[in-house]
Amino acid sequence: MKPLVAGNWKMNGVAASVAELDAMIAGHDAASRAVVDLAICPPAVLIAAFAPRSGPIAIGGQDCHAKVSGAHTGDIAAEQLKDAGATMVIVGHSERRTDHGETDEIVRAKAEAAQRAGLVAIVCVGETEAERKSGRALYVVGTQVDGSMPASATAESLVVAYEPVWAIGTGLVPTAADVAEVHGFIRAKLVALYGPVGESVRILYGGSVKPSNAKELLSVKNVNGALVGGASLKATDFLAIAAAY
Ligand code: G3H
Repeated sequence: MKPLVAGNWKMNGVAASVAELDAMIAGHDAASRAVVDLAICPPAVLIAAFAPRSGPIAIGGQDCHAKVSGAHTGDIAAEQLKDAGATMVIVGHSERRTDHGETDEIVRAKAEAAQRAGLVAIVCVGETEAERKSGRALYVVGTQVDGSMPASATAESLVVAYEPVWAIGTGLVPTAADVAEVHGFIRAKLVALYGPVGESVRILYGGSVKPSNAKELLSVKNVNGALVGGASLKATDFLAIAAAY
């Protein structure tokens, strides 16, 4: 399956940051396009400006509301992201789960909203440091997968991102063996949920992915790409991560 390297800009970037996107587009040449899909998820206010020029780089949102429209001040519907030019959306990021109290049930509704709007849903799961230290990482990730995934999926409509919370923005990364264990576990869960389709859903690793560790992390079995935070803000770093393929 073709891997996906997606950049999550979080609450970073202004209109002038389009220069980084342009450098990424220029660097994602035919050879790169043949082996890896790239996406950038900028703050929602930049999607409409980025999407028309993004060419080979998909543009995504970082969150969506579960409903199509209504009295939800500050929220954005999946349909509105689509209208602005997005083709994918991250849901259930740990920063949303923590900062906004998003439960598995809410994340599942958002993933289904993304599919309803015709967006690829990138559904995030991952354990905290305390959960890993107490030996509950697989239990926590399994519960999140069971509770957060949409009712149905195709290889094109769903992407899962495993992001250990303790690895996000910290410079810490799990061992290749730990990544392999969790990704293998998620793969088995996806097959149990969706049948053979579960074999073709991409599972991304996220958490302190950098040019220096990309090759090792991205070559682990069942790692089908990366969800990159800080290192996706600069074209040189982002392209160097993609070059691991
Ligand atoms: O969505 C991206 C992740 O939270 C990873 O962030 O690469 O800055 O650790 P990071």
